[in-house]
Amino acid sequence: MPSIPSFPPAFRWGVSTAAYQIEGAVDADGRGPSIWDTFSHVPGVVANGDTGDVACDHYHLWRDDIALMRNLGVSDYRFSISWPRVRPLGKGPVNRAGLAFYDRLVDGLLEAGVRPYVTVYHWDLPQALQDAGGWPQRSTAEHFGDYAAAVAEVLGDRVQDWATLNEPLCSAWLGHLEGVLAPGLKDLGDAVRASYHLLLGHGLAAQALRSHAALKPNVGLVVNLTPCEPATDDDSDAARRADGHNNRWWLDPVHGRGFPADMLEVYGVDLPERVGDSDTIATPLDHLGVNYYFRQIIQDAPELPAPSYRVVPVPGAPTTSMDWEVHPDGLEQLLMRLHHEYAPASLLITENGSAYDDQVAEDGTVHDPDRVAYLERHLEAAASAVRRGAPLHGYFAWSLMDNFEWNFGYDKRFGLVHVDYKTQQRTIKASGHRYAQLIAAHRRATAPSA
Ligand code: FCB
Repeated sequence: MPSIPSFPPAFRWGVSTAAYQIEGAVDADGRGPSIWDTFSHVPGVVANGDTGDVACDHYHLWRDDIALMRNLGVSDYRFSISWPRVRPLGKGPVNRAGLAFYDRLVDGLLEAGVRPYVTVYHWDLPQALQDAGGWPQRSTAEHFGDYAAAVAEVLGDRVQDWATLNEPLCSAWLGHLEGVLAPGLKDLGDAVRASYHLLLGHGLAAQALRSHAALKPNVGLVVNLTPCEPATDDDSDAARRADGHNNRWWLDPVHGRGFPADMLEVYGVDLPERVGDSDTIATPLDHLGVNYYFRQIIQDAPELPAPSYRVVPVPGAPTTSMDWEVHPDGLEQLLMRLHHEYAPASLLITENGSAYDDQVAEDGTVHDPDRVAYLERHLEAAASAVRRGAPLHGYFAWSLMDNFEWNFGYDKRFGLVHVDYKTQQRTIKASGHRYAQLIAAHRRATAPSA
C-alpha cells in the first residue's frame, strides 16, 4: 500500500457538491427556474437529454447523504445554495421555505460533526435575472450582493466558511463565449462584461457576508486554475495568453493588481468600470479556493478568434473519461505558484477528482482503481506543496457522489459514492473507502499522544 501523505493535524478533509447537480426537486417549496433549468431542457445541449429535474434527489435524501459523509469520516462538506430557491426571481422577497432547506441541512451537518462550507453561487442564476440581461449587466452583481446578505442573515450564525462564487471562468467563458454551459451564449463582449460583473459581484458578496453573518466569516473565492505550457518554443506567447485567459484574468484583479493589461489588449473589449470597483473586486479574502483538474498544452492558433490558441493532447498521457490528462504534478506546481506569486493567506483545494466509467459488480461493490490512484497521487502532490511551505489547509474531493455533470449529464461519474439513478441507491466506491482510510490514518498519526 502506498505511504500515507502527511498533513498538519488540523488539515480539513472534505467532499464537495453543487445545488443543481444533486438537489433535484426543481419545483419544490417555491423554487424559481434557473438558467440551468432552461438550458438543460433545450434539445441537444446536454448528453442524452438529461436534466437536473431529479438528479440525486438530495433535497429529500439529505439525511442519508449526511450519513454517507459520516461513514467517510470527512470533517467538512462544501455545498452550494440555489439562488432561485432563496429568491425565485433573483431579487425581491426571500422565499423562506427555500432557505429553510439549507437551515435544516446546516443543522444536520453540525449535529453529525461535519463543518459546512457554503458556496453562494455555483452557476444557477435565476432565469428572471438572465431575462433582464444576466451577468453582462451590472445589476446582476448588485442583486448577487443582496442575495448573499439574505443567506448570511439566516445561516451566518452557524456557517463560518464561505465562497462567493464557484469558477467564474466557467460562468463567463464557457457560458458566454464558448456556449457550452448555461446561458449558452457565444459573444466575446458579453463574456468579458460577464467576467467583470462576476468579480464585482464576488466583492460585493464578500462584503455582504462580512456585514451580515453573526459568526466572523472565513470568506473565499473558488477559482479553477490550469497550468498552461507551450507545445513548442514557438508557442510561448500563446501559452502566456492562455495563462492570462485561464488564470491571471481572475487572480490579478482579486489580488489588487487590476485586470492584466496584455489580456485587455487581446480581448479588445472596454470594461464597464466605475470608480471604486477595483477596490470592491480586491476586497481582502481569508482564503483562496482552488479547483484543479488538469494542465493544458497550448499551441498558437492565429486563425482562431481571441485568445487565439488551441489545446493539444499530450501523446500517450493517461486521461480520465472526460479526456482530461491525469497530471498530479500540475497541482503541486500550481499551489507553489500561488504561494510565491500571490501569497494568499490560506489555500484550500475546493475541488479535485476524476470521472471514470464505473461498473457495479455482481456483489454490489464498485471497484474503481483508477480513481483510487488519482486520489492518492493528487494528495501526495498536495502534501509535497505543504512540505515546501504552501499554506494549504484542506482538500475537498469532487465529488461526494455521482451527479449531474452539466452538459455531460449523468454519463460522467465523479463520485466517491456511486448513485443508481433509477433507485437513488448510494454505494460507497473503493475510492470512498480509500479516502475514509486515509482520513482515519491522518487522525491516528496526528492525534495528541496521551
Ligand atoms: C468543475 C465544477 C463542478 C464539476 C467539476 C467536475 O468545473 O465546478 O461543478 O462539474 O468541474
